[in-house]
Amino acid sequence: MAQPKSKNITWHHANVTTAERQDATGQRGCVVWFTGLSGSGKSTVSRRVEQLLLERGRTSYSLDGDNIRHGLNKDLGFSPEDRTENIRRIGEVAKLFADATVITTTAFISPYREDRDSVRSIMPPGTFVEVFVDAPLEVCEERDPKGLYKKARAGIIPEFTGISAPYEEPESPEIVLKTADHDVDACANQVIAFLAARGFVNGR
Ligand code: ADX
Repeated sequence: MAQPKSKNITWHHANVTTAERQDATGQRGCVVWFTGLSGSGKSTVSRRVEQLLLERGRTSYSLDGDNIRHGLNKDLGFSPEDRTENIRRIGEVAKLFADATVITTTAFISPYREDRDSVRSIMPPGTFVEVFVDAPLEVCEERDPKGLYKKARAGIIPEFTGISAPYEEPESPEIVLKTADHDVDACANQVIAFLAARGFVNGR
């Protein structure tokens, strides 16, 4: 939806600018957007990144697919429209977190390129870091941590990403993680190194 449904609403500007908020907290916020198939390692790596950042004195927070679907987005399913709305809401929430100077990691399949690009488009330049968690479908299916691929193959779960619903790979992600070839710490450190190079880890 391009325009808000409500008509009589006014945008209120904060008393504090983003720059002042950054000065006060000593860090710049950003969104580190993990995307990939179910079982590719998005949650595991993003949570490790959150932990490593906290150990370095940064404020970080992880928004995770399954958890968000228990609360904020519990009214949404897995149709293309619902997935788009899922990502739109998460994008808006992540943007607020980042504006509050939190280094925000998100772990959602986010299968549609257009939806991910929409989130990128609402973020200030340079503050959206797309991380493609690139594990082959065979590997994800072999791992099958929640037993969902088995159910999807049996036709019990419809519209399952990678089996009966599409996954559109990122065309130019900032980071590609090969989780089938490297362990969790190596992948998390790859993300930390990128964030450090962009000045997000050692303060402004
Ligand atoms: S997204 O496509 O809208 O981005 P999201 O990341 O929120 O998906 O949720 C994916 C998680 O929901 C999966 O890790 C899996 O546990 C669960 N799930 C249940 N049904 C499906 C389905 N049909 N397709 C993909 N994931 C599903």
